[in-house]
Amino acid sequence: MSLGETGLLKLVNKLQASCTLLGDTGSGDSADGAAGGVDLPSLWEALPSIVVVGGQSSGKSSVLEAVVGHDFLPRGSGIVTRRPLLLQLIQTTSAAEEYGTFLHKKNQKFHDYEQIRREIDAETHRSLGKYSISSDPINLTIRSPSVPNLTLVDLPGLTKVAVEGQPASIVRDIENMARQFIQGKNAIILAVTPANADAATSDALRLAKEVDPAGERTIGVLTKLDIMDRGTDAHLILTNRNATLKHGWIGIVNRSQADIDGKKNLASARRAEMEFFTSHPAYRGLHNVGTPALSKKLSTFLEKTIRDQIPHIQNFVLEGIQALQAELRSLGGPAMASRGEMLHMVLTLCREFDRAYETLLDRGKNGGES
Ligand code: GDP
Ligand code: NA
Ligand code: MG
Repeated sequence: MSLGETGLLKLVNKLQASCTLLGDTGSGDSADGAAGGVDLPSLWEALPSIVVVGGQSSGKSSVLEAVVGHDFLPRGSGIVTRRPLLLQLIQTTSAAEEYGTFLHKKNQKFHDYEQIRREIDAETHRSLGKYSISSDPINLTIRSPSVPNLTLVDLPGLTKVAVEGQPASIVRDIENMARQFIQGKNAIILAVTPANADAATSDALRLAKEVDPAGERTIGVLTKLDIMDRGTDAHLILTNRNATLKHGWIGIVNRSQADIDGKKNLASARRAEMEFFTSHPAYRGLHNVGTPALSKKLSTFLEKTIRDQIPHIQNFVLEGIQALQAELRSLGGPAMASRGEMLHMVLTLCREFDRAYETLLDRGKNGGES
């Protein structure tokens, strides 16, 4: 079963879409005119998202693409991801309804994944000044019958030293940005660590441990297993003998730069990954290797996170209803009695979300870029 097939996820996805579209990342203030007295940041915090964190070129964007099952992210060596990408995936029922939209270009539907990638690239550069990174997120929504209902966050990579003629503060700025996205209790952290470097010194792990010391919501993702030094393997890490992580590691093989340059498609990449793991003596028989294993692990995490949050979500909706009731009373309207009226209130609340969203978009059009 794919991540998107549970009704629970669909419901939460709708609520989450409202928050994402309001541009709230849980760190700041909510949009003006947001639904009558409802605290949007607290709703955002109640809903799960998946955040990839890791060193530069550790394979973060590649891992996200593998989870989503589509090619649409700029990837490559060096700093490619320069702004956070808030990616809202919405599963649709018909193939005719497959397209991406950007918050910064609300009226354009992108029907082609290559075009989406180019737009991310263009928007990245359009909004950057001399400083080569920014914490201002790019908001992308992808509707497709073949994606799970999920919110994912791609981040610029952590570095140990400033590069490309950037000031030394860039190291700390990138780290603060990553921390901001993974500190919310419902962020599921994918700590991406390349197997061809020393996993013990992984920046991803260090940062994940800082915000999630018990490792409750961290999954280690070990990439680049195909390019480890000859004669070495990651069996010890993958079997989690030294228990670095409560929930252990998932081993992944994504496309190399040569594969990307040669336009190897995602399906062949997945076949090659499976072939790699089934034929490698150190990994044969392990259940925690390959992209399907990562998807399965994520779906378990998501369901648990959502289940834990149901009381909070109910509270949120209730608070919204109460705020509206109070507003109605102050306008001299009738007190609510029936279930039907309650339902009507909930629908009104949803419409308020929509309106606040429109307001935000209009604001963005008049120079919201930073
Ligand atoms: P990010 O900077 O962390 O987002 O990493 P990218 O996903 O952009 O990947 C950086 C580079 O590493 C690209 O050239 C990828 O092709 C390459 N890469 C990523 N994962 C793997 C992997 O598992 N194996 C190999 N051989 N190369 C990989
Ligand atoms: Na990169
Ligand atoms: Mg990247």
